[in-house]
Amino acid sequence: METFEKEIKRRRTFAIISHPDAGKTTLTEKLLLYGGAINQAGAVKGKAADRHAVSDWMELEKQRGISITSSVMQFQYNGYCINILDTPGHQDFSEDTYRTLMAADSAVMVIDAAKGIEPQTRKLFKVCAMRGIPIFTFINKLDREARDPFDLIDEVEKEFGIGTYPMNWPIGCGKDFKGVYDREKQCILAFNAKNRGQSKLDSIRCDINDTEAMDKIIGEASREELCEQVELLDGASFDFDIEAVRAGKLSPVFFGSALTNFGVEPFLEYFLEMTTSPLPRKTEEGIVDPFCGEFSAFVFKIQANMNKAHRDRLAFMRICSGKFERGIEYRHVQAGKNLKLSQPQQLMAHEREIVEEAYAGDIIGVFDPGIFSIGDTVCAPKMKIRYEGIPTFAPEHFATVEQLDSMKRKQFVKGMNQIAQEGAIQIFFEPGSGMERVVVGVVGVLQFEVLEYRLKNEYGVDVRRSNLSYEHIRWIENENLNPSTLNITSDTKWVQDFRGKNLLIFTSEWNIRWALEKNPGLELSEFSKN
Ligand code: G4P
Repeated sequence: METFEKEIKRRRTFAIISHPDAGKTTLTEKLLLYGGAINQAGAVKGKAADRHAVSDWMELEKQRGISITSSVMQFQYNGYCINILDTPGHQDFSEDTYRTLMAADSAVMVIDAAKGIEPQTRKLFKVCAMRGIPIFTFINKLDREARDPFDLIDEVEKEFGIGTYPMNWPIGCGKDFKGVYDREKQCILAFNAKNRGQSKLDSIRCDINDTEAMDKIIGEASREELCEQVELLDGASFDFDIEAVRAGKLSPVFFGSALTNFGVEPFLEYFLEMTTSPLPRKTEEGIVDPFCGEFSAFVFKIQANMNKAHRDRLAFMRICSGKFERGIEYRHVQAGKNLKLSQPQQLMAHEREIVEEAYAGDIIGVFDPGIFSIGDTVCAPKMKIRYEGIPTFAPEHFATVEQLDSMKRKQFVKGMNQIAQEGAIQIFFEPGSGMERVVVGVVGVLQFEVLEYRLKNEYGVDVRRSNLSYEHIRWIENENLNPSTLNITSDTKWVQDFRGKNLLIFTSEWNIRWALEKNPGLELSEFSKN
């Protein structure tokens, strides 16, 4: 096999998603330890003051002790080249999280065994389901008191409408956590509570049919309970079907404890086996095969201020086909121009490395002098393709924002436009009012703070924000409809986005239904395609 093909075949690109505190950072860290990419726990994110969050770039993030922006980490393991897309772990996450999932080929969903599914997991799952990407479930914190494992998998199946296949099964939890039973290998992996820490775990393996040995390791009562549960599981659970896993219809479930490094390595090994290398992707002109030999990528994230000293802006691209080579001229399709991507880099937490080459599946960050927008295609000049746009998700919080000092008008307009172009906020206008009356929409309220902070620090503009009571937004799909003729409630507002598309913002679901009832033929959509 050619090197080119081999390189793409060994790539795995996935995102880790979870509700805050479920253990996403801890699991990421353990995965990086296996890959030798870091050598100490706490390198990814630390809450203690002396451990600065290395994936946090902005000052604001440091102040709040949270990670707002997503980062990408690459490491090697057993011949695989793994790209982990980190998604913001805070409750007030932005659209960034959604977009990051567009760049991933699969997702790992971390669930706290004591809590089960939480609101943010639910939101993120929806996006994964929309793309039909494989979802792996890691049920974490078994070293603590946990909910009944049958309940947990039942919840995943019912809430998400997918099948589950427990790859392993926990033996007790909390103080009585004895380990897990590996269903495929039909052996147990015993938990040693003393083995907290970062070194590889020397687990004891034991055949489940070896009653005597099992009793010695986990005790007779636990063995009996395990055998009963396994029998129940074999009878009741879905059959394993790799095609269903790859279609995102069956989620393999792993029980473990990221903090004590228990169950992480087997999880990684199964995960790598079950996932595929990058798959073909859709463009407006048809499907592009990653092995096609020509470079193509799309921009899924734009990040300003990665380095305060340089006031730089990076555009992150997911390579979908071929091989990227530094110094070669590629086409920026939306601008209709050829360009050489300057300072192409890959990231490992805070360290950036200039890359000479990268392959389908990889993520590269390139210096962006303000030319890229989210969803843009960059490819070999002869390819003539355009990746399908990244959907714009419906913001859930709205506010009007105006500058305090009217002399700062120019900076205000520039700042608002640039921040919107990066996709950190969405801006809407009252028809005919231009930038006079700007309505800002965000997915998470924290983005308002980020906006205010950045306008002040980067553009020198102080603003006044007035929160609005709107909660829902819908794009009007009917192209020839004049929204001023619509029959809508007085608290529903007609606005336009930066492309001039018409939208309605509503204060309640009830008002949406009202608008649909009173205006037969009106078509509303929850997100807009770029
Ligand atoms: P997140 O990125 O999903 O937000 O979660 P994170 O990994 O930061 O974990 C949240 C808290 O849960 C951390 O404790 C972490 O140590 C703990 N944790 C993660 N995995 C496990 C596990 O398997 N077992 C147990 N018992 N705890 C786990 P913290 O006290 O909030 O933070 P820290 O001071 O330890 O960083």
